[in-house]
Amino acid sequence: MTRKKLVFANWKMNLNSDSASQLVKDILLTINKDIDVEIVIAPPFPYLNLVSKLIEGTKIDLASQNIFHEENGPYTGEVSAQMVIDMGSSWVMIGHSERRQHLLETNSMINKKLIISSSNNLNAILCVGETYDERRQDKIFPTISDQLKRGLSEIRKEDLSNIVIGYEPVWVIGSGKSAKPKDILEVHNFIHEMLVSLFPKAEELPRIVYGGSVNSENIESIISLENVDGVLVGNAALDCKKFCDIVMKVGGSHD
Ligand code: PGA
Repeated sequence: MTRKKLVFANWKMNLNSDSASQLVKDILLTINKDIDVEIVIAPPFPYLNLVSKLIEGTKIDLASQNIFHEENGPYTGEVSAQMVIDMGSSWVMIGHSERRQHLLETNSMINKKLIISSSNNLNAILCVGETYDERRQDKIFPTISDQLKRGLSEIRKEDLSNIVIGYEPVWVIGSGKSAKPKDILEVHNFIHEMLVSLFPKAEELPRIVYGGSVNSENIESIISLENVDGVLVGNAALDCKKFCDIVMKVGGSHD
């Protein structure tokens, strides 16, 4: 089955209101409106509403980079699923490795966030991936298996079509050099097999996208791989030309 390809822009903690507006306007002018690719942009929280207004009526959807793992209450500084929906988001990123590392997010917190995002009908991208040490110690598959099993615990099979798995090897994020296609293929096939075994009765399994130094030069060798349903782009998503090149090449990869 051919599934719609996804290009997901993770702006991380970059840009300001002027540069964010400019970037979105430039992307909207550059992108071919008929391109058959799902495009999602994840700005920092303060710019969600601004970007939401700019993309209204276009083919771009909005994501928040995080939500808190409770619905509401005394959690100073946190943001709930309902709040990001209120700001126009239809997507949320969950469990990015930078949050696992700097904010000490655990698989159990990540699982609660995924359950909350599902019950609020948000689309979610659940990020998994091994660190450099885990790769060196041959622990890629146990690490990813654990992240998937715990992250997806108690998720109903009906909610899987709103979930995407983002495979991001931690050691290549922001490095300028992506993982090798054969390594990406091996892990994506492994994730696919795990999803089949975790949800044998599901009609639709989550799409699986790759992230980690995706750029306009390496995109074609990545998007053509089996079980790669799209890409998660960080640095290159901050530049209109680079980002639109990636989107166009993903659009051109359809058979
Ligand atoms: P990168 O970031 O493209 O800059 O490596 C990807 C990500 O962290 O989502």
